[in-house]
Amino acid sequence: MTLRAAALVVLLLVAGFPSGPAASTTLLVTEATRRGAYVFQAAGCLGCHTDVKNKGSPLAGGRALKTPFGTFHAPNITPDREFGIGTWTEEDLTRALRQGVAPNGQSYYPAFPYTSFAGMTDADIADLWAYLRIVEPVAEPSREHLLAFPFNLRTLTGIWRALYFAPGEFDAGPTPENAAGEAESWRRGAYLVRVLGHCGECHTPRGVLGAVDNGLMLGGNPAGPDGGPVPNITPQPGSGIGDWSREDIVTYLQMGMDPAGDFAGGAMAEVVENTTSRLTPDDRQAIALYLSTLPPVERKIVRQPR
Ligand code: HEC
Ligand code: HEC
Repeated sequence: MTLRAAALVVLLLVAGFPSGPAASTTLLVTEATRRGAYVFQAAGCLGCHTDVKNKGSPLAGGRALKTPFGTFHAPNITPDREFGIGTWTEEDLTRALRQGVAPNGQSYYPAFPYTSFAGMTDADIADLWAYLRIVEPVAEPSREHLLAFPFNLRTLTGIWRALYFAPGEFDAGPTPENAAGEAESWRRGAYLVRVLGHCGECHTPRGVLGAVDNGLMLGGNPAGPDGGPVPNITPQPGSGIGDWSREDIVTYLQMGMDPAGDFAGGAMAEVVENTTSRLTPDDRQAIALYLSTLPPVERKIVRQPR
C-alpha cells in the first residue's frame, strides 16, 4: 500500500467506514500517523496554532504573532468541519503548504511559513495529513488577524507571492567538501533546517516587505518574532556559533543548554521544548552537521539580556 492509500484508510476510519479485515492495514495506519506526528513536531505546527498561554485547545487557533505588519492569529486546523479544516482534502493541504494558496484560491500571508514548508516531500505531507485527521476536532472559531492598512488587504498577499515566492522541489545543493563522507546526513540536516524546522523564519533577516534575505541565511535577525533579536547561527567564530563543536550544538538542541551553561530563552526555549528535543539523535546530529557547514556570515546580533 502506498502512503497516500494509507492516509486514505485513516480518513475512512475516522469517517467511520468499516476498516476491512486486514490486520496489517491497522498497522500501516498506525505507522502513517506515527510518522505524521513526527513531521508535525519537527515542523513546529503546534506552537503557532495553539494558544498555550490562554489554555487554548491544541490546534484550535494560536497565540498572537506580532509582526511589523500587525498581529496574526494562526487559525483552527483541527478536523472540525465548521471551524477547522474538517472539509479539506489532502490536495487542499498540499496546495496550502506547497503554494500558500487556500481552497478558495486566496493566498496566505507568509506569517504561515509555507515558503519553507513548500519543500516538504510527498511522503511527509501524506503522513502529516494522516496525523491531522486524527487530532481532536474543536468547535471554536479562529480569531481574526489585526493588521494595519494596507496589509489587511488579502489580495496583496497574491502580489507578495508573485514577487518573493518560487515554488518547487527542495534542493539542498551540492554536498560541501567538509561533509563529503556524510552526504546523506547533511542532506537530511538541510531538509530539517530549511524546510521542516523553518529555522530561517526567525534566524534569517528580512527585507522591508518581510521576505527573508537568503544571502544572509541564518546570519541572525535583529528583529525576530515579537521584535526581539535572534542570534547568528552560522559557523562564524565570534559573531556566530563557529566556536561551538557539533556536540555543543546537539546538546543545545536536545536540552537547550549552550556551552557556557546558559539555557535557551524566549522563542528558542519553545522550539527546543516542542521540536528539537523531540527529534531522533540522528536528526539532531544531521542539523548540527548542516549548521557547521553553512557559509559563515559576519554579522553580530546584540542579544537580549536573559
Ligand atoms: C510561524 C507560525 C506557524 C507555523 C510554524 C505553522 N503555521 Fe499554519 N498558519 C500560520 C498562520 C499565521 C496562518 C494564517 C495565514 C493567513 O491567514 O493567511 C496559518 C494557516 C495555516 C493553514 C490554513 C488554514 C485555513 O483555514 O485556511 C493550515 C492548513 C496550516 N496553517 C497548517 C499548518 C501546519 C500543518 C503546520 C506545520 C507543518 C503549520 N501550519 C505551521 C502560522 C503558522
Ligand atoms: C520562533 C523563532 C525561532 C525558530 C523557529 C528557531 N530559533 Fe533558534 N533561536 C531563537 C532565539 C530567539 C534564540 C536566542 C535564544 C536566547 O537568547 O536564549 C535562538 C537561539 C538559537 C541557538 C543558540 C545560538 C547562540 O548563540 O546562543 C541555536 C544553535 C539555534 N537557535 C538553532 C536553531 C535551529 C537549528 C532552529 C531550527 C530547527 C531554530 N533555532 C529555530 C529563535 C528561533
